[in-house]
Amino acid sequence: MTSIRTELEGIELNFLEQIASLASSEELQQVKVAFLGKKGAVTSFLKTLGSLSPEERPVVGQAVNSLRDRMEEILEGKKRELEEKESDVAERTHRIDVTLPPRGRSTGGIHPVAQLTQDVVEILAGLGFSVALGPEIEDDFHNFEALNIPASHPARDMADTFYFPDGKLLRTHTSPVQIRAMLRHGAPIRIVCPGKVYRRDSDPTHSPMFNQLEGLLVEKDISVADMKGCLEALMAAIFSRPLKARYRASYFPFTEPSLELDIECVECSGKNPSCRICKGTGWLEVAGLGMVHPNVIRYGGIDPSVYNGFAWGIGLDRIAMLKYGLTDLRVLFEGNVPYLLSGRRFSC
Ligand code: DAH
Repeated sequence: MTSIRTELEGIELNFLEQIASLASSEELQQVKVAFLGKKGAVTSFLKTLGSLSPEERPVVGQAVNSLRDRMEEILEGKKRELEEKESDVAERTHRIDVTLPPRGRSTGGIHPVAQLTQDVVEILAGLGFSVALGPEIEDDFHNFEALNIPASHPARDMADTFYFPDGKLLRTHTSPVQIRAMLRHGAPIRIVCPGKVYRRDSDPTHSPMFNQLEGLLVEKDISVADMKGCLEALMAAIFSRPLKARYRASYFPFTEPSLELDIECVECSGKNPSCRICKGTGWLEVAGLGMVHPNVIRYGGIDPSVYNGFAWGIGLDRIAMLKYGLTDLRVLFEGNVPYLLSGRRFSC
């Protein structure tokens, strides 16, 4: 009996020693298994009870049970203590330093032409215009014939136009959208048509694909003064200030009379004889425009003796360059990612 007691005391002592030197809850788990697990010291001890006399058995049994209860209590308390310590350490080592500067974000930017298109569409929406879009692969009727462009016109030449073997073509301007919109919606109509156009032109200042924006208004009793008011309001809104305008007589088969609009140089306002933008002329050519030819109105399914109107076409790439101070047209087409990522500079 005494030797059993001594053995139990030895186990307890050993247990207490190990508990005292515990450094982590992981080690605690190992100690728990070593003493109270299936093959642990206390459990193995219980298994030896069978070999004791019937008088000894309950006494020793009770002693072992109470030792196990004490151990469990101690383990529980130690576990709580260790876990608290560990979560304190974790909090300290994973603490967020709110004073650190943020990492930079490259989110990209809206392409300058897309930005300008959005702005122009919004400006014209304020004047009652809606967006109309048309196909980039067009037919001869919409791109030329219905726009009063005769078969002999040089624009139809293979040297200027990209033709497909079936006679279809890549539209050479956004003007065919005028015809499609008139045929679809009739009059009165106010539309703005941005889009890509294609010509067999490729040199340092011309790209075979470029961006235009067409405008069309057909109503009753429209005058040249209405057209001028509309275009000058548009230019003032694009460049965020009123700009002097001048008109030059021109020729387009789809308008009569036909004009070209120049605005005062946005760089030097005509004050710098060696200005690299206006080449010292003080003027920038920004739009072709005119009163819609009666034939075109008729091709659009509208009676030209009742309705008339005006139309214009502007080159969006050139306006984007002027507005955002770009010097090289190619940056608009070449997908230069670092350049386009600096898109913030294009916001209005
Ligand atoms: N379609 C012409 C071009 O590509 C631009 C143009 C001029 C459009 C006069 C018009 C206009 O609607 O009235 O050069």
